Amino acid sequence: MNQNTENTGTAAELNQAVACFNQGRLEEAVRICRKVLAGQPNEVGALNILGGSLARMGKTREAIQAAEQVCRLVPGNAVFYANLSYLHSLAGNYQKAVLVMAHAVISDPQNPVHQAKFARLVDRLEFYQLSEETNAIRQAIGICLARHGIDATPFSTAWHSLLLLTPEFVELAAATGSGSFDEQAQLFDAAEVSDALLDPFFLNGVRSLHAVDVRLERILTFLRRWFLLRRDAYDPAQFLPFLCALAEHCLLNEYVFGMTAGELADVGGLAAEIDPSNPAGPADQARIALLLCYRDIGLPAGATPGEGPFRQLVESYRSIARASDKQLQAVPSVAPATDGGANAVSAAVAGQYEENPYPRWRRLEIPALSEQQKALGRGREILVAGCGTGHEPLNLAVHYPEARVTGIDLSLQSLAYGRRKAAELGIENAELLQCDILRVNVLGRQFDLITSLGVLHHMEDPVEGWRQLLTCLKADGLMKIALYSQAARSSVAQCREWIAEQGFEPTADDIRAFRQAVMALEEDNPLRDIMGWSDFYSLSECRDLVFNVHEHNLTLPWIRSTLDELGLVCLNMRISIPEFKKEYRGMYPADADISDLESLHEYERHNPQTFRDMYQFWCCRKDSVTAERPPKWFYTMGG
Ligand SMILES: C[S@@+](CC[C@H](N)C(=O)[O-])C[C@H]1O[C@@H](n2cnc3c(N)ncnc32)[C@H](O)[C@@H]1O
Repeated sequence: MNQNTENTGTAAELNQAVACFNQGRLEEAVRICRKVLAGQPNEVGALNILGGSLARMGKTREAIQAAEQVCRLVPGNAVFYANLSYLHSLAGNYQKAVLVMAHAVISDPQNPVHQAKFARLVDRLEFYQLSEETNAIRQAIGICLARHGIDATPFSTAWHSLLLLTPEFVELAAATGSGSFDEQAQLFDAAEVSDALLDPFFLNGVRSLHAVDVRLERILTFLRRWFLLRRDAYDPAQFLPFLCALAEHCLLNEYVFGMTAGELADVGGLAAEIDPSNPAGPADQARIALLLCYRDIGLPAGATPGEGPFRQLVESYRSIARASDKQLQAVPSVAPATDGGANAVSAAVAGQYEENPYPRWRRLEIPALSEQQKALGRGREILVAGCGTGHEPLNLAVHYPEARVTGIDLSLQSLAYGRRKAAELGIENAELLQCDILRVNVLGRQFDLITSLGVLHHMEDPVEGWRQLLTCLKADGLMKIALYSQAARSSVAQCREWIAEQGFEPTADDIRAFRQAVMALEEDNPLRDIMGWSDFYSLSECRDLVFNVHEHNLTLPWIRSTLDELGLVCLNMRISIPEFKKEYRGMYPADADISDLESLHEYERHNPQTFRDMYQFWCCRKDSVTAERPPKWFYTMGG
């Protein structure tokens, strides 16, 4: 047989294998592929169909072998890497799945689908040593952090661990871990660490993530101070990208880092020297950035800062700074807390979130949806009750572009933040309105889905708030609720008592002072547990965590009796920590939906941190549970 005849024969067999695969005749597809491979062991098409068929037959290990061979034969093909990564995660080989997915991201750096998959795999993953493999993961994280259309939060743990393993940062952490500023400054040489400080992996993480590790906070606090007090000792143009990234970081965490009186005095001097409306060259820009590292200096709206890092800083500033009066007035107000004999708790809560809109966020994943996925939410009405700064309603709006999303909240500042983000992202199917949950009926609408995450426990009577929301839920509607767990928050309760004893007030200065006091406690002091909460690392989140004006801590028995009282039933409780979820499933195999509140309560009694991310659960009216419920479309959002 000559080459051409052989090729034609193979093509015909492969077509036949594809047809079998598509029709679900998997064994036949496997047989044909194996026959082709017996003559041509490196025939990529045959290996691919073989892998796909074996995977569908549940023979994951064999499928992985075929997919690995494909990746070896065609290195650098993102789709093949993504297939292999999927198979590894099916087999529970999560580390391999992450690594191979990193190669998919690197091979096709513009592809948002691979990045979104990588983000899900890398979420909460921590690294303990550097290797060739972590280099690839680091490179892929760097690519994702440089893009806007992907949420940076899932990369946080991996980014911190990889960064703090880098030799320069190991040294910086050691140098800034003890001693006075002057002692630390004596050991510091900006030129020596310039590459590390200007590395895009570092800069893009600093721009888009909170530093949620005390070692990194100390490093950044030291650097900020050094660059302020020694501003004659370096070339401002060289370090402009670093100073702009640090300014964005400080804006995003609302100036949560500690500042000394000396720094504040120096900042005052610096402010007198510069004109923020005239950033003539890199040196001026560096000084403006330096000032923005310490306080919101109100960049003028019309500044045209040219290209580069300073422009990015100005754009970020416009997107995350406090809203102007004009922006506040533009928020539609349906039923504010102060209207018509308001509930006193609603008014106090509104006051807190006006001062500290929760949370300041930067980025949202803009998914690449298929037509089928887009249609999932067609015609659905979604209400996000207590939407804060709009991350959740806008996230729902981009995932369900054919649904209509309404977010309500008490805080105009929060709503204005979300509205600005919606405009920036070109989102048109979401509206954000000022409305107290207690008066939600004035909307006069019925919803398919109502979510209320981290909100009802801030109301005077959470059951009453929940009941009001229920009046707007369609007969067959779904609810997603998140509530504080008393068991998981025992360290928070302890900390709140200490705050009261020490007399810290919920002001920016006192929140900073409180944090410094906690960080200065002896290593074995249990109050330091609060540093393990990521909310500790930004001002509004820290206020929300331990200075909240009103909160209830709840239990699973309370949820069970409230669901009963309201005629609701739990469909699924989220256990976000994979180890707990796996153990729970093993211990309570009968609770396949993870919805049995008694078993969950029993489990939580032995594992009090299970619901550290709150009790997040789906529920619906008892009489609306049917065989098709809950409908799949909501679950695609990670129910
Ligand atoms: C901790 S934040 C949570 C925000 C958002 N759900 C999130 O998870 O990012 C609580 C939000 O609930 C809002 N809130 C509290 N009580 C409310 C009420 N009675 N009506 C409407 N919003 C309320 C607050 O203004 C605040 O923005």
